Amino acid sequence: MSTQSPSESPEQGGEGGFKIPDTGVFVSEYNKKIFEATRMPERVKILDTTLRDGEQTPNVALSTDDKLKIAQALDELGVDIIEAGFPINSEGEAEAVKRIATAGLKSEVCALCRASKTDIDAAIGGEVDSVHIFLATSKVHLEKKLKISKEEAIDKAVTAVQYSKDHGLTAEFSCEDATRTDLDFLHEVHRSIEDVGVDRIDIPDTVGVMTPPAMTQFVTEIRAKTKVPLAVHCHDDFGLSVANSLGGVRGGADEVHVTMNGLGERAGNAALEEVVMALQAFYGIKTNINTRKLAFVSRLVSQLTGIAVQPNKAIVGENAFSHEAGIHVHGILSESSTYEPMRPEIVGKERSIVMGKHSGHHAVESRLREYGLTLDKDQMKELVKRVKKYAESGKKLDDAELFAVAYDILGQETEPVIRLEEFTAFTGLNFTPTATVVLNIDGEVRRASETGVGPIDASLSAMRSAVSKTIVLKQYRLEAITGGSNALCEVTIKLGDNENPSLLSLGKSVGSDIVTTSVDATIEALNRLWVCKLSANGKKEARKAY
Ligand code: KIV
Ligand code: ZN
Repeated sequence: MSTQSPSESPEQGGEGGFKIPDTGVFVSEYNKKIFEATRMPERVKILDTTLRDGEQTPNVALSTDDKLKIAQALDELGVDIIEAGFPINSEGEAEAVKRIATAGLKSEVCALCRASKTDIDAAIGGEVDSVHIFLATSKVHLEKKLKISKEEAIDKAVTAVQYSKDHGLTAEFSCEDATRTDLDFLHEVHRSIEDVGVDRIDIPDTVGVMTPPAMTQFVTEIRAKTKVPLAVHCHDDFGLSVANSLGGVRGGADEVHVTMNGLGERAGNAALEEVVMALQAFYGIKTNINTRKLAFVSRLVSQLTGIAVQPNKAIVGENAFSHEAGIHVHGILSESSTYEPMRPEIVGKERSIVMGKHSGHHAVESRLREYGLTLDKDQMKELVKRVKKYAESGKKLDDAELFAVAYDILGQETEPVIRLEEFTAFTGLNFTPTATVVLNIDGEVRRASETGVGPIDASLSAMRSAVSKTIVLKQYRLEAITGGSNALCEVTIKLGDNENPSLLSLGKSVGSDIVTTSVDATIEALNRLWVCKLSANGKKEARKAY
């Protein structure tokens, strides 16, 4: 359930009352003391590498179509630079990079290349705007992996940058494992590529081995030696990638490399949603990101990559704006900033109040209010007791169950008035899905047939036709309980009534056939809506709601 606290207005507090500035973010004022003295850029560029470093997440392989969908979503989100892939890697990857580069996106499209002409030629074939050239420079990489000298490394870097500039590309350069590279040598590489016109220099913390203050100091030292715009690319091996990215910006970086949901090699990269929100909240730095789209893009990336977002993930996790504990819910309902450091809507999320063993009266009451249900003091006490008992048994109490318990307490869980007598649904290839229902509504038999986009849609339409066209489907939720083609599914249906928009009802059913299970859940919701309607109309004694 989403809640709207009474104090959602931009500024609150009447005369003498305290005021809340309308930034939608409420972090500690103490941060200001720390950061005020530091010169910070007004705006930071975001390079998203979900499609390159993100795709290096173990077991992730995206199709070209899916990559294009993600690129379009990142473009809409406002990402400045999309690292679309590593074209030399495979024909498929080259094709995907080209599709993205020629899709007419507003974002700059970039391809990853080693410091090699063949790699840069593959990027040129992909029609990208820019190349991100990388070459390892740390001792261990030079000696054990590349087996080349420092001089050879500089020569390779210079040749690659020169070649890409000669071909009209924007060139960003990364000394891979920069944070474990001797700083004097790093300066030497940077100076050499600056001489041949490199456009941006990235500082990768390839194996996530920095701390935020070290990153600040490291970037400060590099900043002092070059005028070229700097980027940071931080990995999360110690869970410090976002903090290190912020540290890098504090040291003078103008661009941050990120991935959606923090996907990436090993423990992943700095998460776009966290970096963007933290830059804004703590440093007051703007990005081009439309933060209201963060939750949507996060879900899309999760669906297409198959990598679930952990529930307690900052900003986009399911629990990021969920509240269960009674004290918290009480606070949230009177002023959201008591327990939320930012408003959920600014990142495209909704607040939810979860029923559990820590729930109190306020949570339960606010939940019931949404369904137009009011319980007296004793009934509420009983309901909270049962909610806690249910939750203590380890089960998750959803709206449908809460609703059923509330109805039981209210004595309104009566014998069903609407019964299903017959039901058929047909579907197939080149065939319009059709369903027919015969309902017995308090002794009156009604029959209706409808078509739909699928058998469930047709069935729900037929039931609506038989009962009342004023009924509207507010929510349909389907969950697989077990795996396999004979899996058990759980369907939850939320219905409303256009004649009385304040009425809502829920029905839930479990079964092995999603069509009949959906029909059963609808019958339950219809019966509850019937009772709601009678009592809302003050006609508890009447028999007919429709
Ligand atoms: O982590 C890293 O060093 C990289 C390079 C390709 C920049 O991803
Ligand atoms: Zn990386």
